[in-house]
Amino acid sequence: MTYQVALNFEDGVTRVIECKEDETVLDAAYRNHVKLPMDCSDGVCGTCKGTCQSGAYELGDEYIDEALTDDEAANGMILTCQMTVKSNAVVSIPAMSSMCQSGPQETTATVTAVDMLSDSTVSLKVKLAQSFGFLAGQYVNLGVPGTDQTRAYSFSSKPGEDEASFLIRNVPNGLMSTYLTSQAKAGDEMKVVGPMGSFYLREVQGPTLLLAGGTGLAPLLSMLQVMADNGNAEPIHLLYGVNTQADLVELATLDGLTSQLANFTYTTVVVDEASGHSHTGYVTAHMDTAKFDINTADVYLCGPPPMVEAVRQYLDSEGLTPKQFYYEKFNPST
Ligand code: FES
Repeated sequence: MTYQVALNFEDGVTRVIECKEDETVLDAAYRNHVKLPMDCSDGVCGTCKGTCQSGAYELGDEYIDEALTDDEAANGMILTCQMTVKSNAVVSIPAMSSMCQSGPQETTATVTAVDMLSDSTVSLKVKLAQSFGFLAGQYVNLGVPGTDQTRAYSFSSKPGEDEASFLIRNVPNGLMSTYLTSQAKAGDEMKVVGPMGSFYLREVQGPTLLLAGGTGLAPLLSMLQVMADNGNAEPIHLLYGVNTQADLVELATLDGLTSQLANFTYTTVVVDEASGHSHTGYVTAHMDTAKFDINTADVYLCGPPPMVEAVRQYLDSEGLTPKQFYYEKFNPST
């Protein structure tokens, strides 16, 4: 049996490695050319200490207390030289990826489709030249063909697909936007570097509120597909805010997910008060569409900086304290 272990480094880089059931994470990393910090590999020095963010694992009893105390172990800390995994797992490594001779993965992708979903949003689909492990919610840097520039975009597709997809905001005069709207054609090649970011789906253990602003929907779509694959039964509610009614995209995908995910609901919110949309204004005015107590929920938020700040202020002013609050701000490059 083989599992996937995502190693999250301090600089935001993630490397996903294959780990056999009877193999330590340290050995699996070395086999995958990732040189994790280590000194003894015997559970004595504590140099290989990290934290398991999710997944089932065993540590055995052959390490000493000076390397890892019972309290540390009870709080999810691990020794990679002692850790064997019993499921896919995510492990934080307190070191820069470059220190482990493992920068971000780099590959190429071939453009398969470019579609204008609205005046403000472009869908980009690419076929990756090689398998590319990432966690739902993470982003990569995509090279803009014909330039030496890259731009960061979150996957809207789930991990493990041959074809990856992205939702890209159409920024007037933006480098990637200009390429996509005026030059891109199937067969074009682009560089892909990553994955990166700490905004990724954790184990779903209760109600979960997803908040998307514009193309901030992309990473949440990826997360929802993974939840559907995992047979998630917890209540999930998405609030998806855009400026105008015409900016709403991927509604058919969201409708499909309401069939695949038993307890998934979503509400669209349009800022334009004159739009006639059923929910207008900002998403903070419609938090009550989630039929669960936000204090009991994990919250994931991806949107432009003003939206992230508005939601944070709203939670503060209402005295709401989600169990976990993960957010990612994006700024369109021009
Ligand atoms: Fe020394 Fe793991 S390398 S405890």
